[in-house]
Amino acid sequence: MKIGSLNVGRVGVGAWQAGGRAWIVDFRELEKAYNYAFDHGVRFVDTAEIYGGGKSEEFVGRLVKDRPEIVVATKVAGFHWGRVLKSAEASRRRLGRIDLLQLHWPPPIYVPLCRAVRELEKAANAGFTHEIGVSNFDVKLMNKAVYCTKKWELVSDQVVYNPLQRGAESLIDAGRRLGFVVISWSPLARGAAVKEKLNNDPARRIGSVVKPTPQSRAVVECIKKIAERRSTTPAVVVLAWHVAKGAFPIPGVKNVAQARDVVESQRFTLTEREIAEIDQVSKPFINNKLLTTGARAVPAFLQKLVFSFLKI
Ligand SMILES: NC(=O)c1ccc[n+]([C@@H]2O[C@H](COP(=O)([O-])OP(=O)(O)OC[C@H]3O[C@@H](n4cnc5c(N)ncnc54)[C@H](OP(=O)(O)O)[C@@H]3O)[C@@H](O)[C@H]2O)c1
Repeated sequence: MKIGSLNVGRVGVGAWQAGGRAWIVDFRELEKAYNYAFDHGVRFVDTAEIYGGGKSEEFVGRLVKDRPEIVVATKVAGFHWGRVLKSAEASRRRLGRIDLLQLHWPPPIYVPLCRAVRELEKAANAGFTHEIGVSNFDVKLMNKAVYCTKKWELVSDQVVYNPLQRGAESLIDAGRRLGFVVISWSPLARGAAVKEKLNNDPARRIGSVVKPTPQSRAVVECIKKIAERRSTTPAVVVLAWHVAKGAFPIPGVKNVAQARDVVESQRFTLTEREIAEIDQVSKPFINNKLLTTGARAVPAFLQKLVFSFLKI
Protein backbone atom coordinates (compact mmCIF):
# COMPACT_ATOMS: atom_id res chain seq x y z
CA MET A 1 0.00 0.00 0.00
CA LYS A 2 1.06 3.61 -0.53
CA ILE A 3 0.28 6.48 1.83
CA GLY A 4 0.91 9.49 -0.37
CA SER A 5 4.40 8.94 -1.73
CA LEU A 6 5.34 6.51 1.05
CA ASN A 7 5.58 2.75 0.47
CA VAL A 8 4.26 1.21 3.68
CA GLY A 9 3.53 -2.46 2.92
CA ARG A 10 0.28 -4.08 4.10
CA VAL A 11 0.64 -3.80 7.88
CA GLY A 12 2.67 -1.48 10.15
CA VAL A 13 3.25 -1.28 13.90
CA GLY A 14 2.25 1.27 16.54
CA ALA A 15 4.56 2.27 19.38
CA TRP A 16 2.26 3.70 22.05
CA GLN A 17 3.41 0.70 24.12
CA ALA A 18 6.92 2.24 24.23
CA GLY A 19 5.61 5.29 26.10
CA GLY A 20 5.89 3.02 29.14
CA ARG A 21 3.06 4.63 31.13
CA ALA A 22 -0.24 3.35 29.72
CA TRP A 23 1.01 -0.15 28.93
CA ILE A 24 2.82 -2.62 31.20
CA VAL A 25 5.92 -3.54 29.20
CA ASP A 26 9.38 -5.03 29.46
CA PHE A 27 11.56 -2.66 27.41
CA ARG A 28 14.13 -5.30 26.45
CA GLU A 29 11.37 -7.54 25.12
CA LEU A 30 9.75 -4.56 23.39
CA GLU A 31 12.99 -3.70 21.60
CA LYS A 32 13.37 -7.31 20.41
CA ALA A 33 9.77 -7.28 19.15
CA TYR A 34 10.10 -4.13 17.03
CA ASN A 35 13.51 -5.20 15.71
CA TYR A 36 12.00 -8.57 14.76
CA ALA A 37 9.20 -6.83 12.85
CA PHE A 38 11.61 -4.50 11.01
CA ASP A 39 14.01 -7.38 10.25
CA HIS A 40 11.13 -9.28 8.65
CA GLY A 41 9.69 -6.71 6.26
CA VAL A 42 7.47 -4.41 8.37
CA ARG A 43 8.05 -0.93 6.94
CA PHE A 44 5.97 1.51 9.02
CA VAL A 45 5.97 2.64 12.65
CA ASP A 46 3.61 5.10 14.33
CA THR A 47 4.23 7.10 17.50
CA ALA A 48 3.20 10.46 19.04
CA GLU A 49 4.72 13.27 21.06
CA ILE A 50 2.35 12.51 23.96
CA TYR A 51 3.22 8.81 24.32
CA GLY A 52 5.22 8.77 27.55
CA GLY A 53 5.95 12.49 27.08
CA GLY A 54 8.36 11.80 24.18
CA LYS A 55 9.70 8.47 25.49
CA SER A 56 8.07 6.45 22.68
CA GLU A 57 9.54 8.81 20.05
CA GLU A 58 13.00 8.45 21.60
CA PHE A 59 12.62 4.64 21.57
CA VAL A 60 11.54 4.66 17.90
CA GLY A 61 14.32 7.12 17.03
CA ARG A 62 16.95 4.70 18.38
CA LEU A 63 15.43 1.74 16.50
CA VAL A 64 15.14 3.41 13.08
CA LYS A 65 18.48 5.27 13.19
CA ASP A 66 20.19 2.75 10.91
CA ARG A 67 17.04 1.67 9.09
CA PRO A 68 16.36 4.31 6.43
CA GLU A 69 13.74 2.06 4.78
CA ILE A 70 11.30 2.39 7.72
CA VAL A 71 8.55 4.98 7.31
CA VAL A 72 8.31 6.98 10.55
CA ALA A 73 4.95 8.52 11.45
CA THR A 74 4.25 10.69 14.48
CA LYS A 75 1.46 12.86 15.79
CA VAL A 76 1.48 16.37 17.22
CA ALA A 77 -0.99 17.14 20.00
CA GLY A 78 -3.23 20.14 19.59
CA PHE A 79 -2.59 21.67 23.01
CA HIS A 80 -0.92 24.82 21.68
CA TRP A 81 -2.34 26.03 18.39
CA GLY A 82 0.27 28.06 16.58
CA ARG A 83 3.05 25.90 18.03
CA VAL A 84 2.74 22.89 15.75
CA LEU A 85 6.07 23.76 14.12
CA LYS A 86 7.82 23.78 17.50
CA SER A 87 6.27 20.40 18.34
CA ALA A 88 7.33 18.98 14.97
CA GLU A 89 10.86 20.24 15.53
CA ALA A 90 11.05 18.57 18.96
CA SER A 91 9.59 15.32 17.58
CA ARG A 92 12.12 15.31 14.75
CA ARG A 93 14.92 15.79 17.25
CA ARG A 94 13.76 12.71 19.17
CA LEU A 95 13.03 10.61 16.07
CA GLY A 96 15.84 11.70 13.73
CA ARG A 97 13.33 12.06 10.88
CA ILE A 98 9.59 12.28 10.24
CA ASP A 99 7.99 10.85 7.10
CA LEU A 100 4.35 11.39 8.06
CA LEU A 101 3.33 14.16 10.46
CA GLN A 102 -0.25 13.89 11.73
CA LEU A 103 -2.51 16.07 13.88
CA HIS A 104 -3.43 13.77 16.78
CA TRP A 105 -7.05 14.98 16.97
CA PRO A 106 -9.21 17.74 15.51
CA PRO A 107 -8.86 21.26 16.93
CA PRO A 108 -11.32 22.63 19.50
CA ILE A 109 -14.29 24.38 17.86
CA TYR A 110 -12.87 27.88 18.48
CA VAL A 111 -9.83 27.09 16.25
CA PRO A 112 -10.83 27.18 12.54
CA LEU A 113 -10.31 23.76 10.96
CA CYS A 114 -8.28 25.16 8.05
CA ARG A 115 -6.00 27.07 10.38
CA ALA A 116 -5.13 23.82 12.13
CA VAL A 117 -4.52 21.95 8.86
CA ARG A 118 -2.35 24.76 7.52
CA GLU A 119 -0.13 24.47 10.58
CA LEU A 120 0.77 21.03 9.23
CA GLU A 121 1.49 22.53 5.83
CA LYS A 122 3.85 25.00 7.44
CA ALA A 123 5.73 22.11 9.03
CA ALA A 124 5.98 20.38 5.64
CA ASN A 125 7.12 23.61 3.95
CA ALA A 126 9.78 23.98 6.64
CA GLY A 127 11.07 20.48 5.73
CA PHE A 128 10.08 18.74 8.97
CA THR A 129 8.12 15.96 7.18
CA HIS A 130 7.61 14.31 3.79
CA GLU A 131 3.83 13.94 4.05
CA ILE A 132 0.99 15.25 6.25
CA GLY A 133 -2.09 13.57 7.66
CA VAL A 134 -4.62 13.76 10.49
CA SER A 135 -6.09 11.54 13.16
CA ASN A 136 -9.55 11.12 14.68
CA PHE A 137 -11.29 13.16 11.95
CA ASP A 138 -14.74 11.86 10.90
CA VAL A 139 -16.14 12.00 7.35
CA LYS A 140 -17.72 15.41 7.88
CA LEU A 141 -14.42 16.94 9.00
CA MET A 142 -12.42 15.17 6.28
CA ASN A 143 -14.77 16.47 3.59
CA LYS A 144 -13.73 19.99 4.66
CA ALA A 145 -10.12 19.36 5.74
CA VAL A 146 -8.91 18.00 2.38
CA TYR A 147 -9.77 21.36 0.80
CA CYS A 148 -7.88 23.41 3.42
CA THR A 149 -4.43 22.66 2.05
CA LYS A 150 -2.78 24.79 -0.62
CA LYS A 151 0.35 22.95 -1.68
CA TRP A 152 0.28 19.64 0.21
CA GLU A 153 -2.38 16.94 0.41
CA LEU A 154 -3.72 15.19 3.48
CA VAL A 155 -2.68 11.60 2.75
CA SER A 156 -4.12 9.80 5.78
CA ASP A 157 -6.61 9.80 8.64
CA GLN A 158 -5.77 7.59 11.65
CA VAL A 159 -8.92 6.42 13.46
CA VAL A 160 -10.13 3.57 15.64
CA TYR A 161 -11.15 0.59 13.50
CA ASN A 162 -11.45 -3.14 14.15
CA PRO A 163 -14.18 -5.84 14.00
CA LEU A 164 -15.63 -4.59 17.30
CA GLN A 165 -15.49 -0.88 16.35
CA ARG A 166 -16.49 -0.51 12.72
CA GLY A 167 -17.54 3.16 12.73
CA ALA A 168 -14.84 4.11 10.20
CA GLU A 169 -16.26 2.29 7.19
CA SER A 170 -17.85 5.34 5.58
CA LEU A 171 -14.50 7.07 6.12
CA ILE A 172 -12.70 4.32 4.17
CA ASP A 173 -15.13 4.96 1.28
CA ALA A 174 -14.52 8.72 1.56
CA GLY A 175 -10.78 8.08 1.50
CA ARG A 176 -11.07 6.19 -1.80
CA ARG A 177 -12.98 9.17 -3.24
CA LEU A 178 -10.85 11.95 -1.79
CA GLY A 179 -7.44 10.28 -1.96
CA PHE A 180 -6.45 9.52 1.63
CA VAL A 181 -5.76 6.24 3.45
CA VAL A 182 -7.47 5.19 6.69
CA ILE A 183 -4.88 4.01 9.20
CA SER A 184 -6.56 1.76 11.81
CA TRP A 185 -5.57 2.45 15.39
CA SER A 186 -6.35 -0.22 18.01
CA PRO A 187 -6.73 -2.67 15.10
CA LEU A 188 -7.05 -5.58 17.57
CA ALA A 189 -9.37 -3.57 19.88
CA ARG A 190 -6.45 -3.58 22.36
CA GLY A 191 -6.59 -7.38 22.30
CA ALA A 192 -10.38 -7.63 22.82
CA ALA A 193 -10.94 -8.77 19.21
CA VAL A 194 -8.55 -11.71 19.55
CA LYS A 195 -8.83 -13.05 23.09
CA GLU A 196 -11.17 -13.30 26.07
CA LYS A 197 -8.70 -12.59 28.90
CA LEU A 198 -6.92 -9.23 28.85
CA ASN A 199 -4.08 -7.88 31.02
CA ASN A 200 -4.88 -4.99 33.31
CA ASP A 201 -2.87 -2.27 31.51
CA PRO A 202 -4.06 1.32 32.23
CA ALA A 203 -4.46 1.77 28.42
CA ARG A 204 -7.36 -0.65 28.63
CA ARG A 205 -9.30 1.88 30.71
CA ILE A 206 -8.59 4.95 28.53
CA GLY A 207 -10.68 6.32 25.68
CA SER A 208 -12.26 4.01 23.15
CA VAL A 209 -12.52 0.76 25.11
CA VAL A 210 -14.48 -2.39 24.19
CA LYS A 211 -16.44 -4.05 26.99
CA PRO A 212 -17.18 -7.79 26.51
CA THR A 213 -20.78 -8.59 25.54
CA PRO A 214 -22.40 -11.73 24.08
CA GLN A 215 -22.11 -10.05 20.64
CA SER A 216 -18.39 -9.28 21.04
CA ARG A 217 -17.78 -12.85 22.26
CA ALA A 218 -19.45 -14.16 19.09
CA VAL A 219 -17.02 -12.08 17.00
CA VAL A 220 -13.98 -13.36 18.93
CA GLU A 221 -15.27 -16.94 18.56
CA CYS A 222 -15.76 -16.54 14.79
CA ILE A 223 -12.22 -15.13 14.39
CA LYS A 224 -10.81 -17.96 16.52
CA LYS A 225 -12.54 -20.60 14.39
CA ILE A 226 -11.22 -19.13 11.15
CA ALA A 227 -7.72 -19.02 12.67
CA GLU A 228 -7.97 -22.69 13.68
CA ARG A 229 -9.21 -23.73 10.22
CA ARG A 230 -6.33 -21.87 8.57
CA SER A 231 -3.68 -22.94 11.16
CA THR A 232 -2.85 -19.38 12.15
CA THR A 233 -3.57 -17.03 15.05
CA PRO A 234 -6.64 -14.78 15.62
CA ALA A 235 -4.42 -11.66 15.34
CA VAL A 236 -3.23 -12.70 11.85
CA VAL A 237 -6.87 -13.17 10.81
CA VAL A 238 -7.90 -9.74 12.13
CA LEU A 239 -4.96 -7.94 10.49
CA ALA A 240 -5.76 -9.64 7.17
CA TRP A 241 -9.40 -8.51 7.58
CA HIS A 242 -8.17 -4.87 7.82
CA VAL A 243 -6.22 -5.29 4.60
CA ALA A 244 -9.30 -6.76 2.89
CA LYS A 245 -11.39 -3.77 4.03
CA GLY A 246 -8.86 -1.34 2.52
CA ALA A 247 -7.45 0.00 5.82
CA PHE A 248 -3.84 0.05 7.02
CA PRO A 249 -3.54 -1.51 10.52
CA ILE A 250 -0.83 -0.52 13.02
CA PRO A 251 -1.01 -3.04 15.92
CA GLY A 252 0.95 -2.33 19.07
CA VAL A 253 3.19 -5.27 20.02
CA LYS A 254 4.84 -6.16 23.32
CA ASN A 255 6.86 -9.27 22.48
CA VAL A 256 8.38 -11.27 19.62
CA ALA A 257 5.43 -13.70 19.44
CA GLN A 258 3.08 -10.77 18.75
CA ALA A 259 5.55 -9.25 16.25
CA ARG A 260 5.64 -12.64 14.48
CA ASP A 261 1.87 -12.37 13.95
CA VAL A 262 2.33 -8.96 12.33
CA VAL A 263 4.98 -10.40 10.03
CA GLU A 264 2.81 -13.40 9.14
CA SER A 265 -0.18 -11.16 8.39
CA GLN A 266 1.78 -9.51 5.57
CA ARG A 267 1.54 -12.74 3.58
CA PHE A 268 -1.84 -14.04 4.76
CA THR A 269 -5.06 -13.45 2.78
CA LEU A 270 -8.63 -14.24 3.80
CA THR A 271 -11.11 -15.74 1.33
CA GLU A 272 -14.22 -13.77 0.32
CA ARG A 273 -16.27 -16.20 2.43
CA GLU A 274 -14.14 -15.66 5.54
CA ILE A 275 -14.37 -11.87 5.15
CA ALA A 276 -18.16 -12.17 4.82
CA GLU A 277 -18.30 -14.37 7.95
CA ILE A 278 -16.48 -11.74 10.05
CA ASP A 279 -18.51 -8.89 8.51
CA GLN A 280 -21.76 -10.68 9.28
CA VAL A 281 -21.04 -11.53 12.93
CA SER A 282 -19.60 -8.05 13.61
CA LYS A 283 -22.55 -6.19 12.04
CA PRO A 284 -23.78 -4.88 15.44
CA PHE A 285 -20.56 -2.83 15.65
CA ILE A 286 -20.90 -0.95 12.35
CA ASN A 287 -22.48 2.14 13.85
CA ASN A 288 -19.95 2.84 16.58
CA LYS A 289 -19.06 6.53 16.63
CA LEU A 290 -15.55 7.89 16.16
CA LEU A 291 -14.13 9.97 19.03
CA THR A 292 -14.19 13.18 17.01
CA THR A 293 -17.20 15.34 17.63
CA GLY A 294 -17.28 15.40 21.44
CA ALA A 295 -13.54 16.05 21.60
CA ARG A 296 -13.94 19.35 19.68
CA ALA A 297 -16.03 20.77 22.51
CA VAL A 298 -13.14 20.50 24.99
CA PRO A 299 -10.84 23.56 25.14
CA ALA A 300 -7.12 22.89 24.52
CA PHE A 301 -6.00 23.74 28.09
CA LEU A 302 -8.52 21.24 29.49
CA GLN A 303 -7.40 18.57 27.00
CA LYS A 304 -3.84 19.08 28.23
CA LEU A 305 -4.94 18.74 31.85
CA VAL A 306 -6.91 15.56 31.12
CA PHE A 307 -4.02 14.02 29.18
CA SER A 308 -1.45 14.80 31.87
CA PHE A 309 -3.78 13.19 34.41
CA LEU A 310 -4.32 10.10 32.23
CA LYS A 311 -0.56 9.54 31.73
CA ILE A 312 -0.81 8.46 28.10
N1 LIG B 1 -4.45 8.24 16.95
C1 LIG B 1 -4.91 7.85 18.10
O1 LIG B 1 -5.69 8.56 18.76
C2 LIG B 1 -4.47 6.51 18.64
C3 LIG B 1 -5.09 5.93 19.76
C4 LIG B 1 -4.65 4.67 20.20
C5 LIG B 1 -3.61 4.03 19.54
N2 LIG B 1 -3.00 4.62 18.47
C6 LIG B 1 -1.91 3.95 17.72
O2 LIG B 1 -2.33 2.65 17.33
C7 LIG B 1 -1.42 1.66 17.79
C8 LIG B 1 -2.15 0.37 18.11
O3 LIG B 1 -3.25 0.61 18.98
P1 LIG B 1 -3.35 -0.02 20.45
O4 LIG B 1 -2.02 -0.33 20.95
O5 LIG B 1 -4.25 0.89 21.23
O6 LIG B 1 -4.24 -1.33 20.23
P2 LIG B 1 -4.03 -2.74 19.49
O7 LIG B 1 -2.93 -2.67 18.52
O8 LIG B 1 -5.39 -3.13 19.04
O9 LIG B 1 -3.67 -3.70 20.72
C9 LIG B 1 -2.37 -3.80 21.20
C10 LIG B 1 -2.32 -4.78 22.35
O10 LIG B 1 -2.91 -6.03 21.95
C11 LIG B 1 -2.13 -7.12 22.44
N3 LIG B 1 -1.62 -7.85 21.27
C12 LIG B 1 -0.79 -7.38 20.31
N4 LIG B 1 -0.53 -8.31 19.38
C13 LIG B 1 -1.19 -9.40 19.76
C14 LIG B 1 -1.30 -10.71 19.22
N5 LIG B 1 -0.64 -11.05 18.11
N6 LIG B 1 -2.09 -11.62 19.85
C15 LIG B 1 -2.75 -11.28 20.97
N7 LIG B 1 -2.67 -10.06 21.57
C16 LIG B 1 -1.90 -9.13 20.96
C17 LIG B 1 -0.99 -6.52 23.26
O11 LIG B 1 -1.35 -6.41 24.64
P3 LIG B 1 -1.23 -7.61 25.71
O12 LIG B 1 0.03 -8.35 25.41
O13 LIG B 1 -1.27 -6.92 27.02
O14 LIG B 1 -2.45 -8.47 25.50
C18 LIG B 1 -0.87 -5.12 22.70
O15 LIG B 1 -0.37 -4.21 23.63
C19 LIG B 1 -0.75 2.31 19.02
O16 LIG B 1 0.50 1.73 19.32
C20 LIG B 1 -0.62 3.75 18.55
O17 LIG B 1 0.50 3.90 17.70
C21 LIG B 1 -3.43 5.84 18.01
